[in-house]
Amino acid sequence: MKVNGKDYRTVWINGSSVFLIEQNLLPFEFKIHEAKKCQDTCKAIKDMVVRGAGAIGATAGFAMAQAFIEAQGDLSYAENGKKYIEATRPTAQNLFYATNRVFNAARNSKTPSETAIAEAQKIADEDAEACRKIGEYGNELIKDGSNIETHCNAGWLAFVDWGSALSPVYAAYRNGKKVFVYVDETRPRSQGARLTVWELKNEGVEHAIIADNAGAHYMSQGKVDMIIVGADRIASNGDVANKIGTHEKAIVAKEYDVPFYVAAPTSTIDMKCKSGSDIPIEERSEDEVLYQTGLTKDNRLEKVLVCSPGSKAFNPSFDVTPAKYITGIITEKGIVKPSEIKGLA
Ligand code: MRU
Repeated sequence: MKVNGKDYRTVWINGSSVFLIEQNLLPFEFKIHEAKKCQDTCKAIKDMVVRGAGAIGATAGFAMAQAFIEAQGDLSYAENGKKYIEATRPTAQNLFYATNRVFNAARNSKTPSETAIAEAQKIADEDAEACRKIGEYGNELIKDGSNIETHCNAGWLAFVDWGSALSPVYAAYRNGKKVFVYVDETRPRSQGARLTVWELKNEGVEHAIIADNAGAHYMSQGKVDMIIVGADRIASNGDVANKIGTHEKAIVAKEYDVPFYVAAPTSTIDMKCKSGSDIPIEERSEDEVLYQTGLTKDNRLEKVLVCSPGSKAFNPSFDVTPAKYITGIITEKGIVKPSEIKGLA
């Protein structure tokens, strides 16, 4: 990914510090956040300084490495660190994939810190490469002149690089195809309106933000050729957990014969979940629904109440789209039907 012409990754480690693109400030300010200790990195995941399945996974891997550095040979310290990291966010499978991989690689190593850092780096590099391949496969589905709808942010900010749902769009655009993206604003945190469009603008891809409830209108008019979304966890029967609102889009897409694709690396598949009902759904603070943060005319970031004072709100962060609504899942190993996902895990 390039930001203002400079190459970046969403997350990296240098010494014992983890560095992250501070996503809460985007698109208004581009800032790098430094997390010096495992505890700081956990806070960054919880507070959504970093977010998106792949980016959370890579960050959790680096946090696990920080725990081994801090442990100085005390395995119980690293074990507690693992529990602490795994308590930050419950839904994204990549987080658990990364903590388990780093922990298992380092636990019996003679040089646990070095082994943990190397394994975490490997996970981050694999994530970037998997997303690049998702772009190659997904590009084959995109015709010149396509109008594509997406939900939330499953671009390079949500992974280490490239992204999942947006990687095919970037690949198509770089291959000279004309593409237009309808970006669902994705309330309550507006990852679409704030992050996806910022990415698309950086990449030069034509796009427009649409209100979350405008999808059916455009689909019914034949203006959407396909939908591509990301995934936070995929159950072994092909049900997919993704940002709240995804399920509705999939139902509407089926009604209007719009192909509905999910793009995700195989590290997002959780074979322990037999169906979507086994996937834990994160409930976040009602403040995310009640308040919005934006830029004032004099360039200050301000949080304001956007709902009637005194009412409470419910805030499930994800929903589950049943496999029957999904046309195909684009992975780094190829495009499969939801029923074929088991074979890839
Ligand atoms: O709560 P977030 O922003 O971490 O949500 C995760 C997501 O970004 C989306 O659900 C996305 O579509 C899939 S993860 C790349």
